[in-house]
Amino acid sequence: MNILVTGAAGFIGSHTAERLNEMGHKVVGTDNFSSYYNISLKRKNEKALNEKGIIVIPTDLRTDNLHEKFPKDLDYIFHFAAHPGISNTSTFEDYLSNNIVGTQRLLEFAESFKNKLFFVNIATSSIYGLEATFPESEPPKPASWYGVTKLAAEQLVLAKSRDKKLQTTSLRLFSVYGPRERPDKLYTRLIDCALNNKAFPLFEGSEKHLRSFTYVQDIVDGIVSVFGKEEVCNGEIFNLGTETENTTAQGIAIMEEILQKKIKIQAMPPRAGDQSRTKANIDKARKILGYNPQTTLKQGLLAQTDWFKNNFI
Ligand SMILES: NC(=O)c1ccc[n+]([C@@H]2O[C@H](COP(=O)([O-])OP(=O)(O)OC[C@H]3O[C@@H](n4cnc5c(N)ncnc54)[C@H](O)[C@@H]3O)[C@@H](O)[C@H]2O)c1
Repeated sequence: MNILVTGAAGFIGSHTAERLNEMGHKVVGTDNFSSYYNISLKRKNEKALNEKGIIVIPTDLRTDNLHEKFPKDLDYIFHFAAHPGISNTSTFEDYLSNNIVGTQRLLEFAESFKNKLFFVNIATSSIYGLEATFPESEPPKPASWYGVTKLAAEQLVLAKSRDKKLQTTSLRLFSVYGPRERPDKLYTRLIDCALNNKAFPLFEGSEKHLRSFTYVQDIVDGIVSVFGKEEVCNGEIFNLGTETENTTAQGIAIMEEILQKKIKIQAMPPRAGDQSRTKANIDKARKILGYNPQTTLKQGLLAQTDWFKNNFI
């Protein structure tokens, strides 16, 4: 199949593009190489994709003419491009324009393929709100600009299925980690602090936060499991993540065990909008997609540590 992956130079998009390529699909990536975090990391991901024959078309979904930029023969779009996470340095406009305007413009492009194209939206557990332990039927209560704009984007996508303009599905991912994890996220930052003797900034109270920390390849397994199930997935939302919960403190302890090193902690004020608990309820994904994530936190963190050492030390 001919597939477009948006946000392909990013963390999860790059892994998904590689997997789709391994599965024998013709994959084209796109990304605007936003400066939300160090662009050299995105260039590294792009290089890895290029070496496998996947090109990444530089495009800003908010402003560029997508018909001019993108292939004309597409069967699938996997939409990862977004302004992710909760950051004090990001503006409301960053979330609004990238997550809502960018998604709407991509949908307008996708609609020109009529119902022949399947659109997979990548959403987030942040849509549920401060606690994310629920099935997909739970009314959303997002508590951050990120969560609110990702909810709006998800609804724009699903509205296309309701209106029979496109076939779509939305996958809500839970706390993804692993090789290429964004530098603003927990584990890449922990490894960086430990190996470079820096103090790790820990938001007050966050050591008790519970998370469904999910290994990136387990997430990719769930994302690609929609193939062949388009009819049952159309217009549906699925949670993807592990059912196993760990506190941030437990995550730090596993990292210390792997690195054989005590990590210095620097206490920071609590972060507004931070979720207190995420536990992926994957009953629906298990039943319909056959989803069954297996990687333990320790196995995944060993792989992430190897990636960091091979690339940055
Ligand atoms: N990382 C997680 O734990 C997690 C959890 C839940 C959901 N998600 C979702 O997964 C997706 C990917 O997240 P990630 O962690 O890989 O982030 P990432 O920042 O590494 O990847 C997103 C990519 O999108 C690109 N992008 C942003 N705005 C764009 C625009 N206007 N036009 C074109 N490209 C643009 C960025 O340059 C970046 O490379 C996002 O939609 C995010 O909301 C991530």
